[in-house]
Amino acid sequence: MLDVNHIRKDFPILSRTIYGKPLVYLDNAATSQKPTSVIQSLVDYYESYNSNIHRGVHTLSMEATDRHEDARSKCTRFIGAKEDKSLIMVRNTTEAINLVAQTWGKHNISAGDEILTTHMEHHSNLVPWQKLAEQNGASLQFIELDEDGMLNLSNIDDLITERTKLLALTHMSNVLGTINPVKELTAVAHKMGAKVLIDGAQSVPHMKVDVTDLDCDFFAFSGHKMLAPTGIGVLYVKPEILESMEPFLFGGDMVSQVWDDTATWNDLPWKFEAGTPNIADLIGLGAAIDYLESLGMDQVREHEMALTGYALEQFDRLNDIKVFGPKDLSKRGGVISFHSDDVHPHDMGTMLDREGIAIRTGHHCAMPLTRKLSVVATARASFYIYNTEEEVDKLTAAIRATLDYFAK
Ligand SMILES: Cc1ncc(COP(=O)(O)O)c(C=O)c1O
Repeated sequence: MLDVNHIRKDFPILSRTIYGKPLVYLDNAATSQKPTSVIQSLVDYYESYNSNIHRGVHTLSMEATDRHEDARSKCTRFIGAKEDKSLIMVRNTTEAINLVAQTWGKHNISAGDEILTTHMEHHSNLVPWQKLAEQNGASLQFIELDEDGMLNLSNIDDLITERTKLLALTHMSNVLGTINPVKELTAVAHKMGAKVLIDGAQSVPHMKVDVTDLDCDFFAFSGHKMLAPTGIGVLYVKPEILESMEPFLFGGDMVSQVWDDTATWNDLPWKFEAGTPNIADLIGLGAAIDYLESLGMDQVREHEMALTGYALEQFDRLNDIKVFGPKDLSKRGGVISFHSDDVHPHDMGTMLDREGIAIRTGHHCAMPLTRKLSVVATARASFYIYNTEEEVDKLTAAIRATLDYFAK
């Protein structure tokens, strides 16, 4: 098991107080906190070898290039990809998915084709496909959810047909916590000739992910949800697909030869990385990966499952709230959305903040799902490596007090 007391000492922000109470940070699905090693990696870069990469012959530039590419290799290893050239550095999951939609999607999805997705997607894995479908005359199809917030796969053979060109789905829901059977679905989609994009924004920070084993074609995730700085994300694309994809952005660094009227493209992955990249934050992501690997991703998952199980038990005793998502812990991550008919989620969030407890309230960028749940919004607590049972107890007590306050 994780030594959480030890881990907490690595996160300076956790010693903060809010309204005089120790911070209980339970908004990890939105973004995680950062350990000293990640913060220090940024300071080191700016203090010791800040320089532009790839085009310098001086020492600083070569050092920065080495550290930048070394961090890419850490990402490659971390997600089980085979080659560094399969990983394109972007700002976040959202940009990664837009890149796929507007490059591969634009050229491979045409009138009459279908994009299959689910009713539990974050807007990042829905709106880019809506736009592409509108541009190219394709249509969106949806896998429905069952009562537990799991995908209803009973009619999957009717949904994935020869018209399906892409299955775009989340690995783990940011609202329900549901972990989807993405490997099995990838195999079904491939049988019908469809490509598969997995939104890994909520999975990569919390469990071991192996894109080679999943056999997906595209995989996207964000650094900031996994201890790294904001502004750095990763798109993995199978090399054979990436070779044939047109660049997304054009300009410096992504070219090989440029003439007055035309240009040729750089090698992969730089063909997709126009302009000066986010050097410092990729190095920070490398430091975050070092940190997570030092804990072990299986231990991270084990810790979060235990904490989620404990929290679900405590929530069950509250009686007056409805908790969404699968009951089976092996099928859910450390995200718990809940709702009370008597207290608006924003009131709940505000009352909890007064106790130093940070949760998220709203539609969590998943409006179609919120509608399916027949609520206007939910409150969401989400856990990470530094959260404790004691914090869950504080959360439960604060929810109880809020429910009682509004019942008066
Ligand atoms: C499942 C899921 N997909 C995509 C995103 C978008 O991530 P980003 O804002 O880093 O692009 C999020 C963020 O909450 C998410 O939870």
